[in-house]
Amino acid sequence: MSVDSMTYPVSKGRSDALMDWLQMLSGAALILFVLLHMTLVSSVIISPDIMNAIAGKYEHLYLAQIGGPVLFLLFLFHFYIAARKIPFRREGQKIIWSHAKMLHHNDTWLWIVQVVTAMLILVMGSIHMWAVLSDLPVSAAKSAARIQSGPWVYFYLLLCPLVALHVVAGLYRIAVKWGFVKDRKRAGLRKFATILGIAMVVLSVFTLIRFMTLSV
Ligand code: HEM
Repeated sequence: MSVDSMTYPVSKGRSDALMDWLQMLSGAALILFVLLHMTLVSSVIISPDIMNAIAGKYEHLYLAQIGGPVLFLLFLFHFYIAARKIPFRREGQKIIWSHAKMLHHNDTWLWIVQVVTAMLILVMGSIHMWAVLSDLPVSAAKSAARIQSGPWVYFYLLLCPLVALHVVAGLYRIAVKWGFVKDRKRAGLRKFATILGIAMVVLSVFTLIRFMTLSV
């Protein structure tokens, strides 16, 4: 047996473990970003001036001009790393689908939800970031004008629940897979994830209503 064939499985195992770490860390960073982003954008509910002040600070610190594109790269990187486990071929999809139906395994279903939402978020998130970052500076009036025009409100009404589902499914899977939450506490984790998902959608809908009713 050659040295290569003896060492290959070990190094492959190591690189797979490294990829798993990178997937988890980039996912966790994106979850934190999305939660912060939703809270900051929803400041428009209290007052457009508060949203403008936050956006002004954000640009003053170059977080939009530099942080925006960096975040976009992190977003693409996370998809690239996670995509290695997605079955893009028809046969692979059939196997996963039949296993999920056969096993009635909630975690397999959750994984399917995560993959489907990921594909849609990749396209819609890219369109969203392009629209916002190519029209800086951010302001409540500009956001309201965008949301009140064309199909943008429907676009966001679809993107919000997709992001909420992907975030809570990701949070749940990180907590279980990396052992942050023990088996006996899984029911509590599921409850927390459901409440967080609902809270994200409700907050987003109120934010959109505020943008729709803001005079521009
Ligand atoms: C640097 C990156 C980003 C910036 C500067 C940004 C900025 C904004 C702004 C200004 C709005 C208000 C609506 C508008 O102007 O069109 C908004 C809304 C929204 N953004 Fe982002 N965004 C970024 C990244 C993301 C990412 C990565 C996601 C998730 C994939 C996301 C999801 C949403 C959603 C769902 C809304 C609708 C309103 C809400 O849920 O609060 N954004 N964003």
